[in-house]
Amino acid sequence: FSEFLTDSFNRQHDYLRISVTERCNLRCLYCMPEAEGVQLSPPSHLLTSPEIFYLSSLFVSQGVTKIRLTGGEPTVRRDIVPLMQSIGSLRSRGLRELAITTNGISLNRKLDSLVEAGLTGVNLSLDTLDPFQFQIMTRRNGFDAVMKCIDRILELNRHGANVKLKINCVVMRGLNERDIIPFVEMGREKDIEVRFIEYMPFGGNKWSEGKMIGYQEMLDIIRTKYPGLRRLPGHKNDTSKTFEVPGFVGKVGFITSMTNDFCGTCNRLRITSDGNLKVCLHGNAEVSLRDLLREDNGGLPIDEEAFQRIRQTELDRFNGKLSDETILGWGRRERQLLRVIG
Ligand code: GTP
Ligand code: 5AD
Ligand code: SF4
Repeated sequence: FSEFLTDSFNRQHDYLRISVTERCNLRCLYCMPEAEGVQLSPPSHLLTSPEIFYLSSLFVSQGVTKIRLTGGEPTVRRDIVPLMQSIGSLRSRGLRELAITTNGISLNRKLDSLVEAGLTGVNLSLDTLDPFQFQIMTRRNGFDAVMKCIDRILELNRHGANVKLKINCVVMRGLNERDIIPFVEMGREKDIEVRFIEYMPFGGNKWSEGKMIGYQEMLDIIRTKYPGLRRLPGHKNDTSKTFEVPGFVGKVGFITSMTNDFCGTCNRLRITSDGNLKVCLHGNAEVSLRDLLREDNGGLPIDEEAFQRIRQTELDRFNGKLSDETILGWGRRERQLLRVIG
């Protein structure tokens, strides 16, 4: 494993998340302000597909084995299919997983081609199973399209595809806690992992502690109806804690960023849509890979010296543990971040 991707806490960063667009076709309450409030970068600041492919192959050559495309909403990128196809070709060079985090609104049409390109995982953002509540939480329509997308993935899997399907559900008090049980019950017959996510602060989202439902409370809600809910062993770098209801095929997970962070085992690297490398969702330190790529005028190879620069400015800086102040402090500063990085 390359030294470049091992940080000073000995974490091997073998999972790369690439934000391929800032744009999104929904306006989830916890993420984005209404349309007028969204500021987009000038197109020339964004990575082109050849640049994204180049960086992907570079990181795979250094030991990255999993790439996840995020957004905004990655499927609104016009050339998402050819981009995925090119990244998918890196399977022969060590890439083992190629996943996407999407809201599923415009995935259906592209799904078959993406699976053909080597898609191995879909994390689908869906916070409610009630169409009216969907409209309230996303400020847009599209519930049926998302449900169709779930069915289509399961159908492809029945016909031999092997796409790991997870649902990401951000739980907010007063909005969708009633959906917790129906989501758990989806797993009775469907092979899906539903992950309940603690609502996190981002400057634009008017976060307050009262609106967040913590891990323990979610467990209590589920155990009232399903007392048999039990923890499963996890994997080293999981962000979620996984459970099962005995007899259900699906799984239940919790992403406890607020009450139980998982920074110590974090193996992620992130590239923002404008080409900055970051190690931490909450971190400030960024280094522009785009500028490194562009500055030497077509001299695409990011050489040893550039790697050193990246390593010093970025990987070494994060201390592997988030303090409470960091978490509470990043609300405003990082408003744009989730949208850009997912
Ligand atoms: P897999 O583990 O590959 O299935 O995906 P994931 O959970 O890393 O990614 P996904 O895009 O589905 O994100 C799920 C949730 O985890 C989102 O709410 C993210 O904001 C959150 N998340 C992702 N990475 C991190 C991280 O490094 N730190 C924190 N605190 N939250 C993260
Ligand atoms: N808190 C927790 N999770 C969030 N997501 C977006 N905004 C927030 C927030 N404020 C989740 C979405 C999506 C994932 C990339 O991040 O549900 O699935
Ligand atoms: Fe779009 Fe995801 Fe943000 Fe919702 S959470 S507005 S789907 S980027």
